Amino acid sequence: MNQDAYFGEYGGAFVPEPLVKPLDEIAAAFKKATQDPDFTARLNLLLSDFAGRPTPLTHAANLSAQFKRQIYLKREDLLHGGAHKTNNTLGQGLLAQWMGKKRLIAETGAGQHGVATAMIGALLKLPVTVYMGAIDVERQAMNVARMKLFGATVVPVQIGSRTLKDAINEAMRDWIGSSADTFYIFGTAAGPYPFPQMVRYFQKVIGIEAKKQILQKEGRLPDAIYACVGGGSNAIGLFADFLKETSVQIFGAEAAGEGVDTPYHAATLTQGHPGIFHGMHAHFLQTPEGHIMETHSVSAGLDYPGVGPEHSHLQSIGRVHYEPITDQEALHAFAYLAREEGILPALESSHALALLLKKVTEFPEDSIHLLNLSGRGDKDLATYLEQAKGDAS
Ligand SMILES: Cc1ncc(COP(=O)(O)O)c(C=O)c1O
Repeated sequence: MNQDAYFGEYGGAFVPEPLVKPLDEIAAAFKKATQDPDFTARLNLLLSDFAGRPTPLTHAANLSAQFKRQIYLKREDLLHGGAHKTNNTLGQGLLAQWMGKKRLIAETGAGQHGVATAMIGALLKLPVTVYMGAIDVERQAMNVARMKLFGATVVPVQIGSRTLKDAINEAMRDWIGSSADTFYIFGTAAGPYPFPQMVRYFQKVIGIEAKKQILQKEGRLPDAIYACVGGGSNAIGLFADFLKETSVQIFGAEAAGEGVDTPYHAATLTQGHPGIFHGMHAHFLQTPEGHIMETHSVSAGLDYPGVGPEHSHLQSIGRVHYEPITDQEALHAFAYLAREEGILPALESSHALALLLKKVTEFPEDSIHLLNLSGRGDKDLATYLEQAKGDAS
């Protein structure tokens, strides 16, 4: 068994025969490229000069005063493209070019990964096709327009729940027939090996920077860190460099939709069970027969019935605490941060904020809390206004 493919008992590469070779080729290329100083230098240059790294760590002064605890926001919303996704698409895009691939494909939920892939396709002059559930095409119209401006072809997926799960199915289907010249840029730290490991590698810059920044500002590590978990890429990006710091408590927020006691949620880790889907052994929302269930979240980026295998592992060993956050709690946090700090978070990131708001007073006064603000909320305004029935006035 290839131990590199697993996090404890979770992970692997459970794929149809035609994808075994393409995945092996990517795993080998990833190992080589990341040891090639030219590759790393180019990636680092683009991360700084194209994408705008390092992103700031902002002291949320008003929240901190209110709660008498120090609250910091890692500003991935300020990364070019408006979310953390650009870290990953730059890495995988450069890898595709390094391998001599001629075309990029991607799936997207909230549209942020689609936008980030389309941007990188324009930059590297590689044509891009993005698969997106038809429901997400509607609720993330602004991001669809951005992808098209960057020259990408957006394919609305009309089957199944018409959200992220179905977009991944279609992208995999495309890749089975096209892998000779096409690179599939997977958008989150999930799917078959080596995607979870690769996405972790390209996103871990978030936590490495955040740790340096908090040590500069406070002279010590945070007491707690927080991120939202869809497939798990922004979360593992923040968590990776803190996992070994046993004094730091780590929290992941997943989407409880209309409530975990209703059928309309996407709380995979707290409500799901281990299974195999989308090429990985991890937690899924599934029927007793193993059929994958339909999910619901107000936030398109968290509306997925699975989760990356490392999160399944981190939950099983008790290192990270995952808790469900409802649509209403996230919508409240969205408007709250806007009013209190003048920052509009993505609805995905609002789940992490809502969890922080629940947890923060369980810690002593002057404790330090660090939240990954994974993306900006402009894309979610229409959803917010509809859900809050114009409450933003
Ligand atoms: C801003 C933002 N945050 C979080 C996510 C969830 O993805 P992940 O769990 O891979 O970070 C998305 C997904 O689209 C997103 O757009």
